[in-house]
Amino acid sequence: MNLIMKMLAAPATVLALWAASAQAAPNDEIAKRLEPVGQVCVQGKECKGMEVAASAGGAGGAAKTPDAVITKHCNACHGTGLLGAPKVGDAAAWGERAKKEGGVDGLLAKAISGINAMPPKGTCADCSEDELKGAIKKMSGL
Ligand code: HEC
Repeated sequence: MNLIMKMLAAPATVLALWAASAQAAPNDEIAKRLEPVGQVCVQGKECKGMEVAASAGGAGGAAKTPDAVITKHCNACHGTGLLGAPKVGDAAAWGERAKKEGGVDGLLAKAISGINAMPPKGTCADCSEDELKGAIKKMSGL
């Protein structure tokens, strides 16, 4: 390769790399801008955003930790007591409910079926019973 060719080849490579990266960035940004602001997930229907959130927490289908389930699904209501939900860490409120339902397993059954303003599975449609139970135990301290 003579000198002229080398001098032309180097900027051409840089230009090609720049063009490739310049294309990638705006596409991502456009995709972000097109995302709906608040996604509504309907029970039983595919919910893209929630799946991403769920798989980001537990590596590749591993069991979700109680904290991960609570943070993503239960805290919205149980963090503040929204709609009359028993609050995270309010042992008295949870204890009373546990007594009424026959312990943690009774609470689990209600969490799965849903009760009044409490949605079935607390919106964690892909949570296993064990994962829900872990979250209930952690929130209630039972
Ligand atoms: C949309 C709000 C909301 C979300 C999200 C939510 N809950 Fe609840 N939950 C409630 C409300 C409200 C109650 C009280 C219902 C009642 O007794 O009227 C409740 C009650 C419960 C109870 C007690 C049931 C009983 O028999 O007394 C359990 C257990 C429970 N939730 C578990 C969970 C778990 C686990 C999650 C997360 C996976 C979750 N909830 C997410 C609103 C929510």
